[in-house]
Amino acid sequence: MPYAHITGWGVAIPENILTNAEIAQMVDTNDEWIRSRTGIEERRIAATDESTASLAAQAAFDALEVANLSPADVDLIIVSTSSPEHIFPATAALVQDQIGATKAGAFDLSAACTGFIYALNMGAQAVRSGSIKNALIIGAETLSRLTNWEDRNTCILFGDGAGAFVLQASEKPGGVLSAVMRADGSGGDLLSVPAGGSKLPTSEQTLHEKLHFIQMNGREVFRFATRVMAQATREVVKMSGFELDEIDWVIPHQANRRIIEKAASNLKLPLEKFIINVERFGNTSTASIPMATAEALGKAQIKPGDKIVFVGFGAGLTWGALSVEWTGPLAEPEAPLVWPYRFEKLYSIYARFRSAALRVIRTIEGFVWGRKG
Ligand code: COA
Repeated sequence: MPYAHITGWGVAIPENILTNAEIAQMVDTNDEWIRSRTGIEERRIAATDESTASLAAQAAFDALEVANLSPADVDLIIVSTSSPEHIFPATAALVQDQIGATKAGAFDLSAACTGFIYALNMGAQAVRSGSIKNALIIGAETLSRLTNWEDRNTCILFGDGAGAFVLQASEKPGGVLSAVMRADGSGGDLLSVPAGGSKLPTSEQTLHEKLHFIQMNGREVFRFATRVMAQATREVVKMSGFELDEIDWVIPHQANRRIIEKAASNLKLPLEKFIINVERFGNTSTASIPMATAEALGKAQIKPGDKIVFVGFGAGLTWGALSVEWTGPLAEPEAPLVWPYRFEKLYSIYARFRSAALRVIRTIEGFVWGRKG
């Protein structure tokens, strides 16, 4: 049975920074309150020409470059998101088209901030079963578009961004070791976007009541988060056959510094073992774990062989953890980059041309077929 290794990583971080001071000009809050209750100092907001799919595609392309794997070799794309481009089609299918992953299946996964852990586990299981070799696992959000910028309970928390991992099959032991995935739908109302789905379709009234925006019971979510973080971490470490003190890094969902501190204290682990960057990006939901991982890799904090636990929680309610023995790229370091990364501009023209050509062919086929009928 092959192992599922994380061999590439990438991020897409919007340039536009929104500081606490700027939010304080929009709602009744202040920098000191936000910092002390959440640890957040600033977050990124997607520009009007950026979207969940465009951020996801950028992160995915960078992750594939690290793995030196051509988009044409990707078998499966999973995009975890709570701010999909549309109800359907899946954002993952749009990413497939944008990066030219010609033979990949693609679907979205909705498990809110826990989604990246669920998606990574699903991708790893597909790799381990032998049914696929290469998968792209992406967490991408533009939550700023679902945020009520008049609601100080929520607008201080969220930010935009994307992160992606490449999973590859190899006979070499390591990679994804174990995972726990949990849910408790009885707490669904604690964090939700009530309208815009099939239960409450868009209407004048839903718009008037601002039901298309994130609604949250912060205190209850806080209580839930501090309980499940330590619990899921313990469970996943036990499943992987390690002891807690053998874990090199915990990479938690970046929702709130206080929640992470509480989890560290519950686990009796030093906070230094936790990767934290919530102060600069806020809560980017499902994108936060791959974004924090990529940043830690950029600082050379994580090394091949390190034992890592990813742990997250969020709307659903959902929570989960996944343990990994870190691998890094399987490609030989001296191997030349495959052509999409040597000629990036040319490749992006090719991918766009391919997409446009498929539309033209579909139009011509439709015309010919219509005449026959
Ligand atoms: N600025 C200033 N005051 C604020 C405020 C803001 N942005 N938001 C709320 N307040 C006020 C409240 O109105 C309340 O005032 P009151 O006592 O007069 O009623 C007071 O601050 C305390 O509110 P409370 O909700 O108890 O604050 P808290 O310490 O629980 O912090 C959160 C609020 C949202 C920061 C915290 O509950 C939290 O982080 N929860 C988890 C949220 C989360 O992570 N969600 C995503 C999960 S993936």
